[in-house]
Amino acid sequence: MRADRPATLVHAPEPGTTGRATAVAHPNIALIKYWGKRDEHLVLPRVDSLSMTLDVFPTTTRVRLAPEAPHDTVTLDGRPAEGEALRRVVAFLDLVRERAGSAARAVVDSENTVPTGAGLASSASGFAALALAASAGYGLDLDATALSRLARRGSGSASRSVFGGFAVWHAGPDRAAAAEADRGSHAEPVPVGDLDPALVVAVVDAGPKTVSSRTAMRRTVDTSPLYEPWAVSSADDLTEMRAALLAGDLEAVGEIAERNALGMHATMLAARPAVRYLSPATLTVLDTVLGLRRDGVPAYATMDAGPNVKVLCRRADADRVAETVREAVREAVPDGAVLVAGPGPGARLLPGAGR
Ligand code: PMV
Repeated sequence: MRADRPATLVHAPEPGTTGRATAVAHPNIALIKYWGKRDEHLVLPRVDSLSMTLDVFPTTTRVRLAPEAPHDTVTLDGRPAEGEALRRVVAFLDLVRERAGSAARAVVDSENTVPTGAGLASSASGFAALALAASAGYGLDLDATALSRLARRGSGSASRSVFGGFAVWHAGPDRAAAAEADRGSHAEPVPVGDLDPALVVAVVDAGPKTVSSRTAMRRTVDTSPLYEPWAVSSADDLTEMRAALLAGDLEAVGEIAERNALGMHATMLAARPAVRYLSPATLTVLDTVLGLRRDGVPAYATMDAGPNVKVLCRRADADRVAETVREAVREAVPDGAVLVAGPGPGARLLPGAGR
């Protein structure tokens, strides 16, 4: 067995490894956002989305079957999971058990290096790693597409973290029967031209978000008059984004990503009541990004369900961008942090996990 099996080569565990597996996955940042579900149970999105998987903040998740145990035991960052976090993991394991025809409970141990719940997509790396470790642990033989579909059920954005580099998550056929819609909604890699991108991550608040993305999405779709226009324009953004990526045109990629993200936040601001994730520190960083552009440095911002800003730029400019953003963050918040990320790998199993 290769030491570093990519997700595209996921097979049933080797003899002696059944019942245990450890997987690593990285978060991804959407350049074309997923916002809004058309089916909450199946986690079917209203729009296609496209992201870059990062090379920082991995989540490592170990799953061990415990056939005698009366219930699942879940540990997140060394602490027993409870409440909604526990419910989501157990519901996900139920899905895997149903497919594997198993009733065995599991012991799950997950170490997250991304600040949980801060709009830095900890759920993406978390559920991508859990999908891979649990499916391998329960002996399911999934290819990367099937793994992406499964990860989607834990958290929509996790479907994209199955893949490294850039990935598009297809919403899947609308108005189709459940099984067909489910089959069609998965991520796949996106071809990219000569692009050497970096994402400068400005953490202006590492605390948990005030409104969960699930709640915020529902409220936006149900009440925001700006939601439908954004969803329509997002489809055009995706088409343009794919062309810009293929052409290796970083300026175009950045412009499209920034307008798509600001548009998504506009839909939330128009929801009733408004959902506002952006803070004064977010706006300070946005001003800094504009300043960089005025100085001739191509830099573009994107924000998710939280106040933190990810700044897309050329890798060659990343140190300068990071330094400028760091200065702004230092003035805005005492305990902020800025780091540079590049494109990262897809989810993978760690070797020897079953021994
Ligand atoms: O997968 P969720 O439920 O954490 O939703 C993530 C949504 C955004 O991060 C805001 C956008 C995206 O496409 O990742």
